[in-house]
Amino acid sequence: MHRLMITGGAGFIGSNFVRYVLEKYSDYFVVVYDKLTYAGRMENLQDVEDDFSSRYAFVKGDICDALTVEATVQKYEIDTIINFAAETHVDRSLMEPGSFIQTDVYGTFVLLEATKKFHLERYHQISTDEVYGQVLAGRSTESDILDPRSPYSASKTGGDLMVLAYYASWGLPVTITRGSNNIGPYQYPEKVVPLFATNAIDDQPLPVYGDGKQMRDYQYVLDHCEGIDVVLHKGELGEIYNVGTGEELTNLEMTQIVLATVGKPESLIKHVEDRPGHDRRYALDVSKLRGLGWEPHHTCAQAVEKTTRWYMENEWWWRPIKNGDLYKSYYAQQYEKRLRA
Ligand code: NAD
Ligand code: DAU
Repeated sequence: MHRLMITGGAGFIGSNFVRYVLEKYSDYFVVVYDKLTYAGRMENLQDVEDDFSSRYAFVKGDICDALTVEATVQKYEIDTIINFAAETHVDRSLMEPGSFIQTDVYGTFVLLEATKKFHLERYHQISTDEVYGQVLAGRSTESDILDPRSPYSASKTGGDLMVLAYYASWGLPVTITRGSNNIGPYQYPEKVVPLFATNAIDDQPLPVYGDGKQMRDYQYVLDHCEGIDVVLHKGELGEIYNVGTGEELTNLEMTQIVLATVGKPESLIKHVEDRPGHDRRYALDVSKLRGLGWEPHHTCAQAVEKTTRWYMENEWWWRPIKNGDLYKSYYAQQYEKRLRA
């Protein structure tokens, strides 16, 4: 595994992973293959282009476009595909599910076909704890039944099952990681932590869905990247590995940490109409990955504080996004009525 095609590498976790891999492995060549949707941004990779120009290439392409996928695999003599490319925001999946099914299910199929056709050494799928559905008690292990409840998580589940089908049917060399909520640099400010941090900086209300007692395992993105790295190098083929801190915060606890870090009052919290079908709690058992020697370096609380500080120090990155028409129209559609009610 030396020539990686990292699909979705211009997005949040993908761009952090690209930087991590190029820094850690001086003999790896990385091709980022990305459609550049609203969430994929060249500025996420600006320093990578400057620092690693001889070991890095970018291809603008859709994972659903088999011809361009195949041409890229051949041109760059790719031996490994790591698939981060997806539509990723649950609220958007409730607005227009079609693109989720297209990219997260059909796109995964296209990449698996390329893996099979060119006899690649590895296909790794980046999946999510949301495929287990809400977990009111206990923790999800990798063999648990899948019970997705949103168009996003149902699409991700379809992708996972397709990966496992290619392993069972043709022995494709696949692995899957299922991560909890990632936070850190370059996360599009539609996800709750960057949304709340940037709203707090601007003295805008923080729209907490429902009672705010839903629980999430907020992990720092580089801990997740290390987990993926460990699975790539030590994981068993055909296996699934959960990645998270193994603890949770309620959304209200997370919000209080954001506000305390920015130094803004809790009066900015505004409870608004809940997300339809809102999963109450996700909780992962991460002992399988720990068994490969991996440990997270941040608690949820440390991850929230560190992430909030990054947004305080990097307005250059998020201010143009939030000032753009695309973001403003999404924000109005998702929050205007809720915040007025
Ligand atoms: P993101 O939305 O920030 O980035 C997604 C990237 O995929 C973007 O660069 C986008 O341009 C690209 N993309 C979308 N459709 C594409 C297509 N058809 N072809 C090529 N590129 C396409 O997402 P993220 O938060 O970085 O998530 C990355 C992966 O990790 C996803 O598979 C997601 O399901 C998974 N995941 C995310 C989290 C999280 O908390 N963010 C947690 C667990 C798993
Ligand atoms: O669990 C992993 C998943 O985490 C990933 O697979 C997804 O790609 C990622 O988007 C994330 O999904 P969530 O729905 O958990 O994340 P989000 O940031 O949208 O919401 C986190 C929690 O905060 C959730 O309980 C909903 C709540 N929330 C979210 C927003 C955007 C609010 O209360 N208000 C908000 O405005």
